[in-house]
Amino acid sequence: MAPLLAPSLLAADFGNLQSETERLAGSAADWLHCDVMDGRFVPNISFGLPVLQAIHRHARQPLDVHLMIEEPQHYLAAFRDAGATTLTVHYEACPHLHRVVQQIKQLGCRAGVALNPHTPVWVLEEVAADLDLVCVMSVNPGFGGQAFIPNTLRKVAALKELLVDSGSEALIEIDGGVSLDNAAALVEAGADVLVAGSFVFNSPDPVATLAQMREQLSALVAPPPPDYR
Ligand code: DX5
Ligand code: ZN
Repeated sequence: MAPLLAPSLLAADFGNLQSETERLAGSAADWLHCDVMDGRFVPNISFGLPVLQAIHRHARQPLDVHLMIEEPQHYLAAFRDAGATTLTVHYEACPHLHRVVQQIKQLGCRAGVALNPHTPVWVLEEVAADLDLVCVMSVNPGFGGQAFIPNTLRKVAALKELLVDSGSEALIEIDGGVSLDNAAALVEAGADVLVAGSFVFNSPDPVATLAQMREQLSALVAPPPPDYR
């Protein structure tokens, strides 16, 4: 399957979120990645519910919401109501991860779990079959524009093996420092969803950059079935 592309709005112009969201409508973006940061789980604050609602009003693509917050269990329904299609929580923020995953699924959202760079993939062994997505952080969460951590490639391959062994159909998402320098290798290692913030939005023409990513990556593999979009 060709990877899904999920540009991260963290790198968009927050003063013009409506036009930033609208210009992606006809682009190669499959999902819009929305980074919620609380200043506690990560050392940065981004945006929360009202901004997500505003993005949702103007978005054509499903919202892939990455919760970099402590105690995410208190806010899942609110983020679903604000427009999230996928809700990803951090393994490191959830002592009762199994329960949180079930809560997300009961809300009718795709359930994702993100792993910080230092967290090994095997911690997901007992919950893998219940997951719809695993987000492998290829930078330390909290900021856009950081350098890709090369060990991610090895980690993606290990995760792919774990998911196959568990009979899990979870998609593998990569988040942080993704560009056309590493995208093909990530897809070959098993990545299904590529998040890209600064590579897309700091380019002169984000829509053209997404088209270029789509073109180069679809040459690698067959297109995805429509129900993955
Ligand atoms: C980092 C966020 C990422 C970020 C990626 O904490 O989770 O989604 O926006 O940005 P780039 O692609 O610039 O590394
Ligand atoms: Zn993210």
